[in-house]
Amino acid sequence: MAKTITGFSKLSKSDKIDWLVQTYFGDSQSAKALMKQYWNSDKKLQMLHDEFIENTITNYYLPLGVAPNFLINGNVYAIPMAIEESSVVAAASKAAKFWFDRGGFKAKVISTEKIGQVHFTYDGSFEELSTFFKTIKPMLLNEVKPISKNMEKRGGGILDILLCNKSDLLDNYYQLHVTFETLDAMGANFINSCLEQFAKTLKSEAKHSLDGNLDIIMSILSNYVPNCIVKAEVSCAVEDLSDNPNISAKQFAEKFIQAVRIAEVEPYRAVTHNKGIMNGIDAVIMATGNDFRAVEASVHAYASKSGKYRSLTHAEVNNDTFKFWIEIPLALGTVGGLTKLHPLVKLALEMLGNPSAKDLMKIVAVAGLAQNFAALRSLITTGIQEGHMKMHLMNILNQMEATAEEKEKVVAHFKNNTVTHSAVVSEIEKLRR
Ligand code: MEV
Repeated sequence: MAKTITGFSKLSKSDKIDWLVQTYFGDSQSAKALMKQYWNSDKKLQMLHDEFIENTITNYYLPLGVAPNFLINGNVYAIPMAIEESSVVAAASKAAKFWFDRGGFKAKVISTEKIGQVHFTYDGSFEELSTFFKTIKPMLLNEVKPISKNMEKRGGGILDILLCNKSDLLDNYYQLHVTFETLDAMGANFINSCLEQFAKTLKSEAKHSLDGNLDIIMSILSNYVPNCIVKAEVSCAVEDLSDNPNISAKQFAEKFIQAVRIAEVEPYRAVTHNKGIMNGIDAVIMATGNDFRAVEASVHAYASKSGKYRSLTHAEVNNDTFKFWIEIPLALGTVGGLTKLHPLVKLALEMLGNPSAKDLMKIVAVAGLAQNFAALRSLITTGIQEGHMKMHLMNILNQMEATAEEKEKVVAHFKNNTVTHSAVVSEIEKLRR
């Protein structure tokens, strides 16, 4: 059977599934049943999800968990997290509890500027282009008004447009570098619409005012937002730091700071360290319907801003006070996109008290900091596998199709024994003998 098809998107959902089942699953009725099993029985709700993307065949579930007891700037939050990794929500909850008793998290938004660029080429002189840009700048701003007026009414809009000469990097390459304030919207559609209008004005004015040839290459927002920054921190007296009898508070602080320093200087460790931070961040980003790819791209670029990939968190002891903090770029929205469309996103935002984009930036940064604290705490004391494998135990049991009774017995057994895949298998086999 041919594995290519034309007009796939025009088929009905059932016909798409039939084609897939015939082509890739040997006409297996169980593959078909599985795809259909995940359809929602509420037809309207299913239709909503079908229409988020093209060629939807079914739904792909992720658990939506909650990490309660997050004290942030004096307010208590239960943070929704959508993620598949077993230990993430448990770790966040533990860190929340630990810091709840030590004054909680403090967070503040430092800046909220977004960026977009019109990339173009010009084969004349930069001086001529520069004079031309100064002349048409008011027109650029004026002609975008139909798009920007609503955002301006709410207090946002276009902050500035700069002409950048990039011809030292690439022959004839220039940019309009535009900065925006998009308030509670992530702003991608607003920014891209403005940029496309700037490009139109630029092109049409260039035609009759410039001697050389100006070509628009593309107009698109930048996901790198180094001026859209949030900072979150925790601090406490060093003596309050450890609740583990196997390590003194002072030793804990020293080891913890050393672990952070390693991630500040050693890229192999920094990537894993930051991945742990993103465990917390992505889970909240997903739960609140934000774009985790944009956040990932931006955060990792920011981690490399010195020219070397480094830790996003930092720690110090000053006057016997331990301080641990994160500073990251986060371009988030609490209006637009999926926020009012996906019922669970709506629910997640409601659980957070329908935050502004700035408040969500604080909550997300705290989730990242908490996750990193939990990971480092395990790494420098028990090691990561103890907690990780305890949480993974249920996945192994489910893989082995354990009954409720088997699960109960095996979980009880591993309360005091080390979980490994083979140990769980042999325990189940023992029960089944
Ligand atoms: C696992 O998902 C995340 C960790 O590797 C993070 C870290 O090493 O800091 C535990």
